[in-house]
Amino acid sequence: IDSGERYTYELLVETVEYLKKKVPFAPQVGIICGSGLGSLAETLVNSIEIPYTEIPHFPRSTVKGHAGSLVFGYLSGLPTVVMKGRFHYYEGYPLWKCCMPIRIMKLLGVSHLFITNAAGGLNPKYRVGDIMFVKDHINIMGFAGNNPLQGPNDERFGPRFPPMNQAYNRDIIKLAKKVAHEIGLGDKVHEGVYTCLGGPNFETVAELGMLKMLGADAVGMSTVHEVITANHCDMTVFAFSLITNECVVQYETTQEPNHEEVIDVGKKREGLLKKFVSEILRQIFEK
Ligand code: 6GU
Repeated sequence: IDSGERYTYELLVETVEYLKKKVPFAPQVGIICGSGLGSLAETLVNSIEIPYTEIPHFPRSTVKGHAGSLVFGYLSGLPTVVMKGRFHYYEGYPLWKCCMPIRIMKLLGVSHLFITNAAGGLNPKYRVGDIMFVKDHINIMGFAGNNPLQGPNDERFGPRFPPMNQAYNRDIIKLAKKVAHEIGLGDKVHEGVYTCLGGPNFETVAELGMLKMLGADAVGMSTVHEVITANHCDMTVFAFSLITNECVVQYETTQEPNHEEVIDVGKKREGLLKKFVSEILRQIFEK
């Protein structure tokens, strides 16, 4: 691990000052779009799009299917910032760099963070196109000694030893279930445990068997470290996985997961998911 290199609070404030000059409102809601779900950003009213390449100190996104920009605007009447494209560990960024935008959102005023991802379904009940509300995670990379909060702790963000047993807001999950039924997604939603591997390769049969045994229902390559960073700075978190493929857990099959199918399933579900997310937000904040 690299020794001392980290974003300082002061450096992040520079990024925030730049963004505040460009955007005439403070976002209250943050959304991170997973593979193929980026068009959520198009739902925003009065939007302002800022490519990551123009934002001081921002890392850059390299993967196909992950456009890189922050989009500010109003969603269900709420000031919102959407990350169109995220930073993945497999691209070569350390976890603290992958999670930098979370702290930027916090400093901009975001209190509620919605995180989406594409994931493989390990739970045999899950079908392609289903949605899993994340109720908990298993931080496999953390087990191996890799965590976005490693290094000196700045108390202005949060405590040295943050709890993680209530990382996913229970009330929003409850509300999300209700909304799913209202918009006709009722038979396609589940609640489960997500785990993140470093990637970029998909898992072996033996690895998937192990993850299943450990209690994981879905597996992907993101989200966990973002949730840790968001909880550290006291954000309210809601996360869901779009199941883009069923994990192959026997040797007697010739199926293989691939990135194209992941993107395709995202595109097919995009319309409904936009409606889903905006309706949940509307109901959280309705007075
Ligand atoms: Cl099968 N594995 C991982 N790690 N990420 C995925 C996936 C599988 N399917 C979509 N994303």
